[in-house]
Amino acid sequence: MENIIYEKIELVGVLQVNRPKALNALNVQTIIDFEKALDKIEQDRELRCLVITGSGDKAFVAGADIVEMSKMTSIQAKEFSQKGQGIFRRLEILRIPVIAAVNGYALGGGCELACACDFIYASEKAKFGQPEVALGLMPGFGGTQRLARFVGLANARELIYTGRQINAQEALRIGLVNKVCEPEKLMNEVLECAKIISKQAPLAVAASKEAINDGFDVAIDKGLGFEVDLFSDLFESEDVKIGTKAFIEKTPAKFIGE
Ligand code: CAA
Repeated sequence: MENIIYEKIELVGVLQVNRPKALNALNVQTIIDFEKALDKIEQDRELRCLVITGSGDKAFVAGADIVEMSKMTSIQAKEFSQKGQGIFRRLEILRIPVIAAVNGYALGGGCELACACDFIYASEKAKFGQPEVALGLMPGFGGTQRLARFVGLANARELIYTGRQINAQEALRIGLVNKVCEPEKLMNEVLECAKIISKQAPLAVAASKEAINDGFDVAIDKGLGFEVDLFSDLFESEDVKIGTKAFIEKTPAKFIGE
């Protein structure tokens, strides 16, 4: 893979968008590489958490590639948007939690990538924004749909209509990021969180993710129905026995993911 670096740190996958000469902008090749990395990640039953970050100290992802987009026809743009949306959707419904470690600019497609993750930790140097309207474009990798889920409709509208960049503190204030870290501590903080997630019962974490995602924009009674089904299904797993027994015996639980 030319533009994606993927490594595993124990049970945590770390996917780095690696195109620093263009501030990790997502061109067609990067999206193809991202798809390949996801093929591998989806098959890996050992993984408990995935972290997404950008190479270098300046950018997470500075958006979709503007040079490539400047030459696209409407038909090519449709395919590009569908491909970008496709990888972000795969992240969103991945069995394991995905954390965005936003180490710098997260603009346009970069902000959309972060919003396709379960939650975001950001460096003090991070900058977020959806500047597409300044290019005659609009968000095309899910921004009109996902940003509001993090920051509410009014904040999302303002960010998308103005194209304004916000810093990490403002992103924290409006609920876009969960935590702001010193730049050199960002990765450690994210990995620490990923490690805590990795110690929990994997089927229970996966079922929680599914219930949160599927229940978010449906009527509450339907969402509660999803929860009942997923909650009760877990009682068929070994991990429920392992976790509850360990609590009663006051020993640490060692989950097996079955
Ligand atoms: N696409 C292509 N190349 C990009 C890029 C992008 N999105 N962002 C940065 N680059 C390139 C620059 O062209 C420059 O390349 P050269 O050295 O060859 O000139 C290199 O990365 C370094 O960037 P700058 O010199 O501009 O760095 P800076 O520190 O002065 O500015 C920045 C940083 C504010 C992030 C600025 O690069 C910028 O505004 N980038 C574009 C951000 C943007 O508009 N993103 C949205 C794209 S549209 C989109 O994403 C649509 C969608 O939803 C699918």
